[in-house]
Amino acid sequence: MQLPKHVIIKEVGPRDGLQNEKTHITTVDKVQLVNLLSQTGLNYIEVTSFVHPKWIPQLADAVEVLQEIKRHKDITYAALVPNMRGLERALQAEVDEVSIFMSASESHNQNNINKTIVDTFPIVEEVVVGAKAAKKKVRGYISTVIGCPYEGYIHPDKVLRVTDKLLEMGVTEISLGDTIGVGVPTQVEYLLEELLKRYGAENFAMHFHDTRGTALANIMKSLEMGITKFDSALGGLGGCPYAKGASGNVATEDLLYLFDEMGIETGINRQKVLEAALFIEEKLGKAVASKQMAIVRNERSANQL
Ligand code: HMG
Ligand code: MG
Repeated sequence: MQLPKHVIIKEVGPRDGLQNEKTHITTVDKVQLVNLLSQTGLNYIEVTSFVHPKWIPQLADAVEVLQEIKRHKDITYAALVPNMRGLERALQAEVDEVSIFMSASESHNQNNINKTIVDTFPIVEEVVVGAKAAKKKVRGYISTVIGCPYEGYIHPDKVLRVTDKLLEMGVTEISLGDTIGVGVPTQVEYLLEELLKRYGAENFAMHFHDTRGTALANIMKSLEMGITKFDSALGGLGGCPYAKGASGNVATEDLLYLFDEMGIETGINRQKVLEAALFIEEKLGKAVASKQMAIVRNERSANQL
């Protein structure tokens, strides 16, 4: 298999990871989490989300968090933005990059952002235009690219329809989300084959939730298909509260183990990511899902015997 020498990992833990957690994390601890992640060698961190605070109460302090983190010049600090009200707040907090989001499936789009797909296009387009006028890059998420909690399997044509629109609007990268972690490599292959007939691999990042343990297999398939950008969340945290049955993202430290051992460079220090994962695990008061963290816990308890 032809493998790339270098890949990019985009850390979405502070946003995707925390948005699904019931335990309230204080602003100070969120800031500390991002500061720890900033010391790992990551060059992209999705810090928070400017959605309606009633929809995602955990991230209601988005402005404060972005304003209080210690920024490194080589790191892009991004945030989710659903509409112009969100963009106003994100620009006030001096976000570096804006992530708009919508779904390939009609019913997830409706459940998640309270609009039909057709009604969402002009809303996200306004955000793209506004963000670009403020000299910000715009990333676009497409959710439920393989399966939807309400509609089941999603055909690549539905993903293409949204991809076409978002790229036409000037979105610089599309992150393809297997929101509920149902996909398997054969489906990833079919989806990417269809998308890559029309667009280059550099336009896409993959965003796998690991609900059924298939994320790393799907990432291997994506690598094989020429994709070199992957989203992940420390500790394997994450999930969309408006997608029934969704659970954590692929864990950054597990993904790093895979890439490190295959000799694929990421520029990220796995040990430092584990330290950040230990920090957030303690704040959440529960064991996080990643395999690497389970090893750390086992070693610690063995040392205490
Ligand atoms: P809505 O109720 O339809 O909004 O919600 P609206 O436009 O009708 O406005 C209603 C009121 O909310 C107005 O206030 C607005 O100003 C206010 P009023 O005039 O009544 O006083 N409002 C806001 N306030 C603060 N910030 C805002 C904002 N927008 C409106 N941004 C909306 C529509 C999109 C806002 C809502 O549905 C929402 O916030 N949804 C977000 C749900 C969410 O965050 N889901 C998780 C993220 S997506 C995900 O996790 C998937 C991903 O990881 C990829 C994958 O895994 O596939 C990205
Ligand atoms: Mg997600």
